Amino acid sequence: MSRATRRTPVSIASADTEVTEGRTASRTAIMVAAYRGRASAAADAICSDPWALRLAGPEGEALSHRWDEHSPSMVLWMGLRTRYIDDCVIRALDRGIRQVVILGAGLDTRAARLAREGVAFFEVDQPASQADKRERLSRFDGYPLNAATFVPCDFERDDFVELLETAGLDRDAPTCFVWEGVIYYLAEEAARSTLHRLASEFDPGSLLVFDYLNTNMARSSPRLRDEDLEMKGIVEELGEPMRFGIDDPTPLMAECGYRFIRTVSFDELALQYTGTYARKRFFRFQSMALASESQDNALW
Ligand SMILES: C[S@@+](CC[C@H](N)C(=O)[O-])C[C@H]1O[C@@H](n2cnc3c(N)ncnc32)[C@H](O)[C@@H]1O
Repeated sequence: MSRATRRTPVSIASADTEVTEGRTASRTAIMVAAYRGRASAAADAICSDPWALRLAGPEGEALSHRWDEHSPSMVLWMGLRTRYIDDCVIRALDRGIRQVVILGAGLDTRAARLAREGVAFFEVDQPASQADKRERLSRFDGYPLNAATFVPCDFERDDFVELLETAGLDRDAPTCFVWEGVIYYLAEEAARSTLHRLASEFDPGSLLVFDYLNTNMARSSPRLRDEDLEMKGIVEELGEPMRFGIDDPTPLMAECGYRFIRTVSFDELALQYTGTYARKRFFRFQSMALASESQDNALW
């Protein structure tokens, strides 16, 4: 049976999907929040996000369970990714960084979970996704709604640097940038331009942490397993195709102006945080990168 015929279509229509300027609120953000919530609720939880499951709601949970069929390691990956980034942000704050920018924030709750006196959090995302998040947050008590400054922005159309500055970010002070689960959804040009601007238009002591996808996955290589292609197909049906892959980030990061970079694979993170390695996890298309222009806050 061919790969195309084996893929089962999923219904992703949602009557209350927010639409702003022709863009709908991100469905992948809802799915990712559900995974983060499930990872937080696991017996030996690697990460802790007490709001994620409620933010994701039944739609997010259903989407995540639909994805599990093709990628049973996804709960683990989301837990690892969340924990690794949390640890990076905590270390950056311990070093004295007082600004955190979450690019493509979706339903990220770090502004509430990692809040500290004197630290400003900024959340950058498409207007429709931010409107959807505000609406979800308004449905339950206990979340500090003012934890972050919302900066509505489309990386492919708007000037995120200017918008951040207008929102109060000090470009002459070091910033910790989090870019989680976003770069592969962008056109290559927008991804490159964003990296270039992050490296060149902010304080050199700034730090960037992000995850990336290999080119086999981004380009739907015939070398991929059927399960991986099917999983990618579900994301496409959500209207957010994975477009940009990176195999070796070094040339890209050097070209964009970064000098200090470190990458870590899914298997390395799994070993670090769970003490286990399992060949059968088959989740080797995603990795994390940490980058800085100077060594001041490079974290290694
Ligand atoms: C998979 S979600 C990840 C959300 C969040 N970072 C997380 O890990 O939970 C992708 C996010 O990227 C945002 N995004 C995608 N393309 C974007 C663009 N062109 N401009 C701004 N945000 C974008 C979506 O709105 C969505 O919130």
